Amino acid sequence: MKYSTLVANPATLTVDAIVYLTPQSEKLTDPALKSVDKLTNGAINGLFRSGEFGGKDGEIAVVVHPHGFRAGRLLLVGLGEKKKLSADAIRKALGHASRHKTLSSSVKAAVILDGYDNPAYYQAAVEGHALGRYKLLDYKSGEAAKDTSKLSELTFVVSRRAALTRLTRAVERGKIIAEGQLMVRRLSATPPNDLTPTMYAEKIQKWAKEYKLSCQVLDEKGIAKEKMGGLLGVSKGSVEPPRFVMLRYQKGPARQKPIVLVGKGVTFDAGGISLKPAENMHEMKQDMTGSAVVLATIITAARLKLPLNIVALMPITENLPSGTATRPGDILHMRNGKTVEVINTDAEGRLILADALDYARGLDPQAVIDVATLTGAALFILGYAGAPILGNNDKLVKRAESASKTTAERVWHMPIWDDHREQMKSSIADLVNSGGRPAGTIAASAFLENFIGDWPWLHIDIAWMDMEYAGKPYTPKGASGFGVRLLTQMLTDWKNL
Ligand code: BES
Ligand code: MN
Ligand code: ZN
Repeated sequence: MKYSTLVANPATLTVDAIVYLTPQSEKLTDPALKSVDKLTNGAINGLFRSGEFGGKDGEIAVVVHPHGFRAGRLLLVGLGEKKKLSADAIRKALGHASRHKTLSSSVKAAVILDGYDNPAYYQAAVEGHALGRYKLLDYKSGEAAKDTSKLSELTFVVSRRAALTRLTRAVERGKIIAEGQLMVRRLSATPPNDLTPTMYAEKIQKWAKEYKLSCQVLDEKGIAKEKMGGLLGVSKGSVEPPRFVMLRYQKGPARQKPIVLVGKGVTFDAGGISLKPAENMHEMKQDMTGSAVVLATIITAARLKLPLNIVALMPITENLPSGTATRPGDILHMRNGKTVEVINTDAEGRLILADALDYARGLDPQAVIDVATLTGAALFILGYAGAPILGNNDKLVKRAESASKTTAERVWHMPIWDDHREQMKSSIADLVNSGGRPAGTIAASAFLENFIGDWPWLHIDIAWMDMEYAGKPYTPKGASGFGVRLLTQMLTDWKNL
């Protein structure tokens, strides 16, 4: 499917369907739609007057064979209240529209964006469509494996030539970012037997070539040489060996310190000897999503040609119980020399992140940002509505908050206090890997803090946000790909810290 841009008079477009964004109102007031109404001899006004359609968000109306148009259909898509208009309202509207039969049974269609002349709106329109129509068919067979959408080209149209360059750039940007997010959805949903640490590292190497990133993969021997006791300890329960993958994108000034992204890559988390309950355990195939987010973000940054130096670090392993697995009570020697008493083998994410965070030391980072499906307890902070963020630097937190507003990927800042640091102290070793139930998300961050040097650090706990349970306008049920828009926005707006 192709996205394109065009300057044209909508009435002359020879497409199967034309999409019009429609702000909510009692009566037909929008100037662009009023002129459509005239052309169609009152078809639009008729819908408003009968109450069939009023531009509420989620509403869609179809005008068949519209008078005055060469297109076969008009699709009016509700935007919600005009005074609350935002990029996300447009993203949602296009998400809804993307799955509407009128659009998916069209071969060619157009979206009219006159009156929405703002690059953020243009970008959101493409994102909404690309994210909303996504379906994973790779694991179906026969008829069910066929994409039922006929759409081959969606054209974003403005009538003023002056807007075309802006539109074309924003559409390209939106497409690249949405593709990054979809890469995460696909990886998250990939079954763990098709994404062992070895297979995952090989995939990453292939993408590194494609996007011209330098890539280094440490196998179990290389990981042992690095003395990554956390990653080794977690991987011991599985016959599948761990991997430590490093990607580098170097398009910033030569002396600019790198921004280091770290992502948790547990390709399946059974909990280890501290086994998880069977119910919903299959969802733990998505415990590698943090690594997928940093992978997709560095690729997206490269495709957008951002003038930055970025490194992505991905510790990748399974967490399984077996006769060779790490036991509760074992003490691990971490890469930075600290010792960790394993209280609960299911608190494995922090163990592998700790070694990766310490590895960043050798890269002299200007900032480190880690992303992880780290704690079930995140559900009790923000529910399915956003991701807790924690760290040691207010500036970095502000940047995440600002990117969050732009992208509608919600985050909320939580503190780390000495009480939480106390919680993570061991009576026998330096640290415990589990401080029990209280403030689970913060306690995990207080653990990670022990592996950070004097550089700005931000931790994003995407547990539960990696998955969409209900189905939203541009996020169908399943893996959500949350995080790529947020991080890409932070990098796009980046100024040296
Ligand atoms: N991967 C899980 C966290 C998780 C749970 C993510 C549910 C998404 C949904 C993590 O490895 C884990 O098991 N954490 C434990 C830590 C506890 C033992 C201290 C948890 O949250 O229960
Ligand atoms: Mn776990
Ligand atoms: Zn986990």
